Amino acid sequence: MSTIMLCGSPHNDGGNSTYFLNALKEKLNGKGEIYNIMNSSEISEAAFLQALINGENIVFSFPLYADSLPAYFLAFLKKIKTTAENVVSQSRVYVIVNNGFYDDVQNNIAIKIIWKWCDKCGLLKGRALAVGAGGMVHAAPLGKGPLAKVDLALKQLAEDIENSRSGDTIFVKPSFPRFLYTFMGNISFTAEGKKNGLSKADIKTLLK
Ligand SMILES: Cc1cc2nc3c(=O)[nH]c(=O)nc-3n(C[C@H](O)[C@H](O)[C@H](O)COP(=O)(O)O)c2cc1C
Repeated sequence: MSTIMLCGSPHNDGGNSTYFLNALKEKLNGKGEIYNIMNSSEISEAAFLQALINGENIVFSFPLYADSLPAYFLAFLKKIKTTAENVVSQSRVYVIVNNGFYDDVQNNIAIKIIWKWCDKCGLLKGRALAVGAGGMVHAAPLGKGPLAKVDLALKQLAEDIENSRSGDTIFVKPSFPRFLYTFMGNISFTAEGKKNGLSKADIKTLLK
């Protein structure tokens, strides 16, 4: 069965959410289509509803924004809900949510929001994958070093999707020390600020 994969990040190519979808698609032997919700020309509401009618599995991959979902992704889900409620579907929903901070558990509220949406739409809940320190995906090849556990989690998710199985959320963060992650984050934040004409002191003032 085909899988429809929707990315809810404004960062399309090169973004972390897209990275996870590409990796998952590879593990599904290419069986699945990836669309970006931000780009409305990529996936229409009609096409999404048709996928629900066909009983295709759905994968949402998105970044955590303010402990929740990006606003346009939430808007997409709200729009779809009105029509999805009237569709009888065997589609099962899978979720990959990644966040910038180290702790994977921070993604839990966003996952609960998606499951609530599934209940409202009458869709089956599959499994969620919560990835902490999402930016680490560019630090090593998938399956190697800090990304060994992330690779195993994606394999599990692919197996679940292939067998239309449900399961508890998998929480995973790269095998990398927290203090080093924070240290590197501070360095890159300062560098990004500088590129945009902001000093370290300016950033601190903005965050107050
Ligand atoms: C507006 C905004 C809000 C964010 N809020 C959080 C947050 O509450 N917690 C967190 O850990 N990361 C937060 N992040 C970081 C993103 O979740 C993180 O960088 C993610 O890996 C981006 O994925 P993407 O490349 O697919 O967009 C936020 C980022 C932005 C731009």
